Amino acid sequence: MVQGLHKELKIRSYDGEKDCARVEELERGCEIVGPADRVFLFTDSLGDPICRIRNSPSFYMLVAELDDELVGVVQGSIKLVTMARPHGNSGLARVGYILGLRVAPLHRRRGVGSTLVRSLEQWFVSNHVEFAYMATDKENKASVKLFVDSLGYVKFRTPAILVNPVSPYRALHLPSHVEIKKLRTKEAKLLYRKFMSSAEFFPSDIDDILENRLSLGTWVAYYKGEAWEDMRYESVSTGSEYWRGPKDWAMVSVWNSAEVFKLRLLGRAPLSCLIYTKSCRLMDRFFPCFKIPAIPEFVDPFGFYFMYGVHCEGKSSAELVQTLCQFVRNMARKSKDCKLVVTEIGARDEVRLHIPHWKLLSCPEDLWCIKALNGEKQSSLHEMTMSPPTRALFVDPREV
Ligand SMILES: CC(C)(COP(=O)(O)OP(=O)(O)OC[C@H]1O[C@@H](n2cnc3c(N)ncnc32)[C@H](O)[C@@H]1OP(=O)(O)O)[C@@H](O)C(=O)NCCC(=O)NCCS
Repeated sequence: MVQGLHKELKIRSYDGEKDCARVEELERGCEIVGPADRVFLFTDSLGDPICRIRNSPSFYMLVAELDDELVGVVQGSIKLVTMARPHGNSGLARVGYILGLRVAPLHRRRGVGSTLVRSLEQWFVSNHVEFAYMATDKENKASVKLFVDSLGYVKFRTPAILVNPVSPYRALHLPSHVEIKKLRTKEAKLLYRKFMSSAEFFPSDIDDILENRLSLGTWVAYYKGEAWEDMRYESVSTGSEYWRGPKDWAMVSVWNSAEVFKLRLLGRAPLSCLIYTKSCRLMDRFFPCFKIPAIPEFVDPFGFYFMYGVHCEGKSSAELVQTLCQFVRNMARKSKDCKLVVTEIGARDEVRLHIPHWKLLSCPEDLWCIKALNGEKQSSLHEMTMSPPTRALFVDPREV
């Protein structure tokens, strides 16, 4: 029983058997993204409300009950990541990620949301978490005010969400002078350690992510005529001198989010959007030479592939990034329910300039907020948040 604002408000651990249906009902009543009078984006967790954290090394879900009515829910996960440290250094930090905070509309502004977050923070503290962080739509006033004004979080990073529809009818043409190679998981792990481990929020359990059944693989692209030498463990542990990669190359890994949850558009889509959708589908089907991207039908529940670890090296690698993204879209066509390819990239990461995305779909801008849970970390957090990001940001596919 939580004392204070609500004597009768009970916060407890999620119990799958008892709570699953009630949490799904609560989600249905809350999940609205975008202008309320137009299109609603509903997430269908396929009968497993905990699906979004299940793949994390350590996770927890709390529910709030008011006289036996389930009125709120929040989820959290813990992991070890690379974090910027004072004076441009970086080191590992234990971070707790907060997601899936929902309060039933009739019970809002009564302290339920803040009580749930504070309870989750207690779980973080008891698990030695140094920093708690969350991501929200920049325009979500309630969420930003709750975390920043009420709970002491600070605005931290604003990564861009880039979305591309999957063409249902035709494969995209890939340039013949580009070679694409799927890496063995062992080699992908080495590549990540060598080129990505200094990225902010790079998880120390990257091996588990790459080995997860939802991770469909890691691909690299380079120009024909160059060779991709296999990487070996010794070359990474002893330095880079043994590995000679091509001059220009790009990499991407793909996570099958479609198997975790499905999205559904509800409500009224703006007419212009519907007309555009229909005409593009016809154009795409019958006049493929126009190369107008087809927009898949979003009436049925649909899933998406998430591209993570997008990285490139070399002055001429922009085309390689684009080709890999097209390759992933072609791959997604073959999956029954996958209608979008999505990625999220740090605001200052130049690789985002090369990722083709759907400019018509104005995605909400993401805002990450962070809080030091340990007083000693307060000064390093201050330094981190005051200085602009200097390194790439790793967006964990398990947290999408
Ligand atoms: C965001 C949400 C969880 C807030 O839950 P809540 O129980 O209403 O939050 P609280 O009552 O604990 O609010 C604490 C403080 O947050 C701020 N706040 C919360 N909702 C607000 C709103 N709609 N407008 C402005 N400030 C708000 C206020 O400062 C509030 O204190 P006050 O009521 O004394 O002014 C709830 O609105 C919700 O479920 N929204 C839909 C899902 C969502 O957006 N989740 C967040 C994803 S990160």
